[in-house]
Amino acid sequence: MTLLEGSVGVEDLVLLEPLEQGSLLKNLQQRYEHKEIYTYIGNVLISVNPYQQLPIYGPEFIAKYRDYTFYELQPHIYALANVAYQSLRDRDRDQCILITGESGAGKTEASKLVMSYVAAVCGKGEQVNSVKEQLLQSNPVLEAFGNAKTIRNNNSSRFGKYMDIEFDFKGSPLGGVITNYLLEKSRVVKQLEGERNFHIFYQLLAGAEADLLKALKLERETRCYVYLNRKVSRVDGMDDASNFKAVQSAMAVIGFSEEEIQQVLEVTALVLKLGNVELADEFQANGVSASGIRDGRGIQEIGEMMGLNSEELEKALCSRTMKTAKENVVTALNVVQAQYARDALAKNIYSRLFNWIVNRINESIKVGTGEKKKVMGVLDIYGFEILEDNSFEQFVINYCNEKLQQVFIEMTLKEEQEEYEREGIPWTKVDYSDNGVICNLIEHNQRGILAMLDEECLRPGVVSDTTFLAKLNHLFSKHTHYESKVTQNAQRQYDHTMGLSSFRICHYAGKVTYNVNGFIDKNNDLLFRDLSQVMWKARHPLLQSLFPEGDPKQASLKRPPTAGAQFKSSVAILMKNLYSKNPNYIRCIKPNEHQQRGQFSSELVAIQTRYLGLLENVRVRRAGYAYRQGYRPFLERYRLLSRSTWPRWNGGDREGVEKVVGELSLSSEELAFGKTKIFIRSPKTLFHLEERRRLRLQQLATLIQKTYRGWRCRTHYRLMRKSQILISAWFRGNMQKKRYGKIKASSLLIQAFVRGWKARKDYRKYFRSGAALTLANFIYKSITRKFLLGLKDNLPSTNILDKTWPAAPYKCFHTANQELRQLFYRWKCKKFRDRLSLKQVENLREKLCASELFKDKKASYPQSVPIPFRGDYIGLQGNPKLQKLKGGAEGPVLVAETVKKVNRGNGKTSSRILLLTKEHVILTDTKKSQAKTVIGLDSVAGVSVTSFKDGLFSLHLNEISSVGSKGDFLLVSEHVIELLTKMYRAVLDATQKQLPVTVTEDFSVRFKESSVAVKVTQGPERGRNGKLSCKKTGSRCLDVTV
Ligand SMILES: Nc1ncnc2c1ncn2[C@@H]1O[C@H](COP(=O)(O)OP(=O)(O)O)[C@@H](O)[C@H]1O
Ligand SMILES: [Mg+2]
Repeated sequence: MTLLEGSVGVEDLVLLEPLEQGSLLKNLQQRYEHKEIYTYIGNVLISVNPYQQLPIYGPEFIAKYRDYTFYELQPHIYALANVAYQSLRDRDRDQCILITGESGAGKTEASKLVMSYVAAVCGKGEQVNSVKEQLLQSNPVLEAFGNAKTIRNNNSSRFGKYMDIEFDFKGSPLGGVITNYLLEKSRVVKQLEGERNFHIFYQLLAGAEADLLKALKLERETRCYVYLNRKVSRVDGMDDASNFKAVQSAMAVIGFSEEEIQQVLEVTALVLKLGNVELADEFQANGVSASGIRDGRGIQEIGEMMGLNSEELEKALCSRTMKTAKENVVTALNVVQAQYARDALAKNIYSRLFNWIVNRINESIKVGTGEKKKVMGVLDIYGFEILEDNSFEQFVINYCNEKLQQVFIEMTLKEEQEEYEREGIPWTKVDYSDNGVICNLIEHNQRGILAMLDEECLRPGVVSDTTFLAKLNHLFSKHTHYESKVTQNAQRQYDHTMGLSSFRICHYAGKVTYNVNGFIDKNNDLLFRDLSQVMWKARHPLLQSLFPEGDPKQASLKRPPTAGAQFKSSVAILMKNLYSKNPNYIRCIKPNEHQQRGQFSSELVAIQTRYLGLLENVRVRRAGYAYRQGYRPFLERYRLLSRSTWPRWNGGDREGVEKVVGELSLSSEELAFGKTKIFIRSPKTLFHLEERRRLRLQQLATLIQKTYRGWRCRTHYRLMRKSQILISAWFRGNMQKKRYGKIKASSLLIQAFVRGWKARKDYRKYFRSGAALTLANFIYKSITRKFLLGLKDNLPSTNILDKTWPAAPYKCFHTANQELRQLFYRWKCKKFRDRLSLKQVENLREKLCASELFKDKKASYPQSVPIPFRGDYIGLQGNPKLQKLKGGAEGPVLVAETVKKVNRGNGKTSSRILLLTKEHVILTDTKKSQAKTVIGLDSVAGVSVTSFKDGLFSLHLNEISSVGSKGDFLLVSEHVIELLTKMYRAVLDATQKQLPVTVTEDFSVRFKESSVAVKVTQGPERGRNGKLSCKKTGSRCLDVTV
């Protein structure tokens, strides 16, 4: 499929757009300039002669092309050869390869390339190799005898060649048959300026050993020979001498015996020597001009060499025997006629020799009958020729090409039609220019030009080229493809290019004007019987065998077939042969006239493309569908265009293709689905597909790149990650190992310390250093014991007032000693308390209460402390009279004493007896035994005392109480501490209230709805004697001095 991508221009002209001469030429030129000399038209190969050795041949290329199908690689002759060979080997189809083109276009090279390809790819083995060698070696021999330097081509084949190579069922070559057409024998006697005779003459002279030359009676110098053009004897780049050796060895390889080779060379030498036979005028007595040989030596040598009678030869050259019914009439020939006869003889000898060589080769490479063979024919024949002056040769050559074109059209169309039928696609009739009518014009058995020519040759009477032309003009006056001066005149056309002795045929490749002069002669191709008879008489076996008609026994009056008829029949055989085979075309094109590399002459190529009918070719190819491809390769190529077929397609090939084209929404007229192939009508559609594919490829390439890059990065990343993890694992492991090592070392150290410590602990007792502690402990214990035991013996008395305590003997016992002292004291107190009676307890409680009330407040308190509270200071117990004072009051009398009452009015004092019971305070007059004042304790609002040692106190009463209305009492008691303490407790018991006891020197007492401010001051006695004086200062003030 390379023909669609990366190519220079288009590789298949079927895809040329637009399809016209100009673009076709441009395409060929463009490719040629890029050294792409091969281009296809479908399966037809166009080859443009590169005139240089390109590096595209040889074993590597053969190996490459044998593995690929036709369109997979760039166009190449190997691809075509491969297709032909494979089809022959695998499909059992006989093949023919038709190589056409102008002289010098590269036909022979092409045929050699095909042969070398086939030779390289076909089987191997000793037998096969020798056959191959024979086939290949036939080339140099045929080229030596059949090729010559022309102006156009230094190695131009001057004959047409068709070679059948025959293969066995395995594809190994068995042998072959060569057919040659129309050797240009006129070259033997005459060459154009700048051209040479056949190579063999020069090779022989240059390459033969001196002995051989001597035996052949030849001179080394080419200029000694008339038939050899004296101006050009050498061709650049061609070594005649070594080629001669090559030809000799090639002949040996093919199977020529030494004698045969010798004889061939002798006949070749004969031709050269014949050319040197000089003829001169001789005068006969009867005045008729005659001729004779000027120098007898040459003819002598010929006679000796060929075993000929030289006189007979001379006679045969210079005269002609006419047979009539009764007798033989001998006529002398003039010089011109004799020269003509000599040249005719030379030409005949050479062309017959050439035929003999071809037959001899055929004999060698012949395949035994009975073997089943497959055949590959290679036709290397001159292409269409239009020269300045076209003669009989051009006429037959062009006829041959016309026939080949017919084969081409019919076979291509047939093939197309067959393919369509095979593929089940309806066949639409294709318009093409059918050249059958031109072929008919030439070859028709009764009314063809060749038939007319034969008729003229055989016709008795005066026959000339002019009569022949007149006949043609008469017969074809209405023929569309025929023209001459006469027909033109009839149609009143004026054409100065048309000569009087010319006719013109409109060939498919263009109009060609033929000069009719020489047609009759060339068609007759007669050699005077005298000459052939002389030749037959030669003792030289080869020469003799070349002229079998010279045998008198065989001599008949029947004329040999004319050249035209011979050619026509051989063309007919060839055509039959070709029709029976599968054709493969190679169209060779010559890019310039100068055999120059790199030069491309558009005009020249334009002419050739017309001759070759290339445009016509393309049109036929494109008539139906321009492009076709098997479903599988098509799908392979384009499946990337559809989502459903890319990247995987599991269905059938055809369904896949339908999917692809369906998705591309191509017009249905553009496509046809055959059984195995898809057909595409116009190249445009294909190019569209290609463009889509190109774009898609870019996308896919990007995708692949993307995926690949992603993959690469991912793998790289993964690797890095893996490495990183590995490194971290190792690092962490290492770190942990180190840490562990450290921990282990540390724990070992700790263990060691602990064990050491434990061990030391267990063993400490055995240590000397522990002795001090033990001693210290011991001493400490012993002094403690001593201290405690000493204390036991020295305990102070249990009297609670005794607070003495022995001092601690050591400072360290100080705290313990204090504790012990406390303990001992508390124990002593407990013991003391346990010994107290209830009364004593009550007394102490009262004492405690007194302390709370008066300690540090009243100066007389300290003195009161050691004196026990007696309560009864008036002998109440033993005095029933006094007992009555108590009246109805409940409970015991708490205090009974005599107090002084201060008169609030005047400050005078008077005695009273005061009784304190649990609920009342009773004041009675000491003289009267009846109660005077009874005050409920709940009426007592408070008491005020001074801080001095005196016994003055004020009893404040509630205003609302009945007694209270009399006002507060200002009293003096000797036991004021005891009295107030007991009153306080009685009030607390009776009312659950604390009696407010105020210690002050200034207080006021109520007296008759008003109050008297009492101010107490200390006298010089300081109240110790219990005396006090009150002095009323104003109605509301009372100064008390104690
Ligand atoms: N494929 C080729 N590669 C190189 N040179 C070539 C090629 N084809 C032809 N030539 C050259 O062109 C010359 C003429 O080719 P040839 O085959 O003899 O032409 P033809 O047979 O058509 O007259 C050859 O001698 C050769 O130099
Ligand atoms: Mg050739």
